[in-house]
Amino acid sequence: MDKLVIEGGFRLSGDVQISGSKNASLPVLAATLLTEEQSFIQNVPSLDDIRTMSTLFQHLGVNVQTNGDELIIDARHISTVEATYDIVRKMRASVLVLGPLVARFGRARVSLPGGCAIGARPIDIHLKGLEAMGAHVLLEHGYVDVTAPAGGLRGARIIFDLPSVTGTENLMMAASLARGDTTIENAAQEPEIVELAEALTSMGVKISGAGTDRIQIEGQECLGPLLHTVGPDRIESGTFVAMAAITQGDVVLKRVRADHLRSTIAQFMKAGCEITELRSGIKDEKYCDLRVIGPNQLRALDVSTAPYPGFATDMQAQLLACMAAAEGTSHIEETIFENRFMHVLELLRMGADISMHGNLAVVKGVKHLSGAPVMATDLRASASLVIAALKAQGISEILRIYHLDRGYVKLEDKLTGLGARIHRVTQK
Ligand code: EPU
Repeated sequence: MDKLVIEGGFRLSGDVQISGSKNASLPVLAATLLTEEQSFIQNVPSLDDIRTMSTLFQHLGVNVQTNGDELIIDARHISTVEATYDIVRKMRASVLVLGPLVARFGRARVSLPGGCAIGARPIDIHLKGLEAMGAHVLLEHGYVDVTAPAGGLRGARIIFDLPSVTGTENLMMAASLARGDTTIENAAQEPEIVELAEALTSMGVKISGAGTDRIQIEGQECLGPLLHTVGPDRIESGTFVAMAAITQGDVVLKRVRADHLRSTIAQFMKAGCEITELRSGIKDEKYCDLRVIGPNQLRALDVSTAPYPGFATDMQAQLLACMAAAEGTSHIEETIFENRFMHVLELLRMGADISMHGNLAVVKGVKHLSGAPVMATDLRASASLVIAALKAQGISEILRIYHLDRGYVKLEDKLTGLGARIHRVTQK
């Protein structure tokens, strides 16, 4: 297994290219299962989670070609509607094939994802929505077997108990080929939902309200090709904000969506960072370059995670690592997942002063973090350990970096380009 070796204490400076969004790419990929036409998706990040989705597609009999950062997908013929345990256990987002397969082929059998490192994460919301559309759901042998009624899924009014992100995505895709109109209430409002709506619109679906808590979808009889360019990854962007912040850096994130980063920008500015949106030379006003200058000393913060546009749970671990080296005591509350503090024990090994009170971390900033061998159990926790290691005195070794490879494109190359002392050691 590979590890990253990081010598801390170097200030990051320079430009960094932000890759396409992982969590936007995965549902957009799944949406290609809705059409018999060939689909083209650009700016897809080269990540293990994307490769896992491609492997699942190949298992379904779908043809996936890679051409640089473009994926060309032909789902005209499929050989099975089953997503097996060996693939789903690697990546929970595999469950995104459920909605499109049931909508187009009338049936899907998908392994239940089960628990994961950050919490129980059931899929009951996805299943209740499909039932509201007339589907029959059977849970047996660790699989969920979903069958559409004769004549296909029917449009429905679906009210979510919680604004589940992949739940909203699954049902938007299912509704796209359903008979009649569907309304999803208490829908997730994350930018990835808006991106999926754009991709579905390119196929001929009529959608309104994506990005609000009420989404309406007019089902179609058949759909055209999906044509989409994936937008920049807001969590990768936020992670580089945190890296610049903790190293007193001066980093320019190239071509990002500042509007997707509002709560991250607000918190890091409150902690003392100078953050500026630069627009010169960028024609499309949706995008900007983001310059982040870290202060000599970060200040403590009180932050609770929340669904978008609140502070993202996917940025909690990275912020917490920064607060471990800030002046004062921070209170960081996790409200989305019940078990997303696996990084805390490892940060303690690096000299952090953190106490846990249920889902609240009380973080007393320390003067020095010290390099240590550490390992993490999930993607964002691993990123937080890299952040702490960039600041810590001495050498850190980050083990189990396959988590990082799931969600960060060439992290060590990007950090080396910014002046970090980091290298990957390949172990057999
Ligand atoms: N939940 C239920 N029932 C459901 C679905 C969700 O109780 O049927 C609960 C979950 O257990 C959790 C909460 O609802 O407590 C929110 O979960 P959600 O369904 O929104 O999460 P997700 O769709 O499985 C996506 C991202 C995660 C991100 C969360 C929250 C993808 C592929 N994954 O997961 O990203 O943390 O939304 O924003 O989009 C990551 O990239 O590191 C990552 C974990």
